[in-house]
Amino acid sequence: MNLPKAHPLAPTRSRAAFGENLLEWYDEHQRVLPWRQQPSLYKTVVSEFMLQQTRVATALPYFERWLKKFPDFASLAASSEEVVVKAWEGLGYYSRARNLRKLAQQIDTLEEIPTDSKSWESFPGIGPYVAAAVTSINFGTQAAVVDGNVVRVLCRLLSVDKEYRDGASAQRELRPVAQKLLNPERPGDYNQAIMELGATVCHRQAPVCTVCPIVKFCHSGSRGDAERFPRIAKRKTEKVSVDRLWITRDSCLLLHETPTDSKRLAGLMELPRTENLPTLSKPKKKDLITIKKRAISNQSIEERIHRSELPEDLDLEDYPELRFVPLANLDEITLSGPHRRWLLELATKK
Ligand code: ADE
Repeated sequence: MNLPKAHPLAPTRSRAAFGENLLEWYDEHQRVLPWRQQPSLYKTVVSEFMLQQTRVATALPYFERWLKKFPDFASLAASSEEVVVKAWEGLGYYSRARNLRKLAQQIDTLEEIPTDSKSWESFPGIGPYVAAAVTSINFGTQAAVVDGNVVRVLCRLLSVDKEYRDGASAQRELRPVAQKLLNPERPGDYNQAIMELGATVCHRQAPVCTVCPIVKFCHSGSRGDAERFPRIAKRKTEKVSVDRLWITRDSCLLLHETPTDSKRLAGLMELPRTENLPTLSKPKKKDLITIKKRAISNQSIEERIHRSELPEDLDLEDYPELRFVPLANLDEITLSGPHRRWLLELATKK
């Protein structure tokens, strides 16, 4: 969508005042974040990769550790994928870590780094959001970012009554209006300011319109019904249940490595599912150790963990993805976040 003609932000001079108010607020109220101290292209890239699916508070300790372990593109490019994914353990969406490493390898070979967002979109793992964030923050490129926070701010600003199918289509459709509102003098700060406003003032629930620096331009904030926006269709929650196995031998635990074509978990180890051991008979109720529940995007997952034994007719040589790992060495392998918690709990119970 574009700016409605009748909106208070339609005149160019109102947009200039809007940008100035937002930037003034940002200059005074921005959070002190490590990627904003002595900023660099590398710090921006790492932080924006992490922040794509993760909150600032969760990303902070990872960012600090990451910079100690991989201080620049060259050190990241020279590290093995295994080490890089291990450093990402617990952040989820592990293809981000693999793409970040591939990106470092490409950047390391470039004589000149492109400054336009379209060129950045051709790098591994980079979509319009990261491309706009990185190029505007580092090179002053006039590319507007649209993430979930920006969608919320824009929909409230303009009282967008349309119901979007999902967050991604809202981001895509709002890009032209975001581009129109971008402050041309400080595009990187403007982008960070509007995301910051979404994260710290224009909350999903109970937005604090009384302290908002742009409330006078905000259609729904002035009317007092900001919380009605954005309107994004609720996805149906799908119930999924998974049966997993706890099989030990000589103080080692059987784990299954997720195939490399899995977007979310490639290369990570998890407790095997019953279907990973095709010759195993169905687990019995009496062997159930625990039930763990978790939610991932639109799935509500119930994981049932059963005590079991390796079937005698199963030759592990035929299943290279199945491996016994010493319980004492669990720290050294890469587990998904929930699995690390469950294994620690179950291993100490044993
Ligand atoms: N969310 C993602 N990147 C951000 C940034 N640079 N500033 C504020 N919020 C963000």
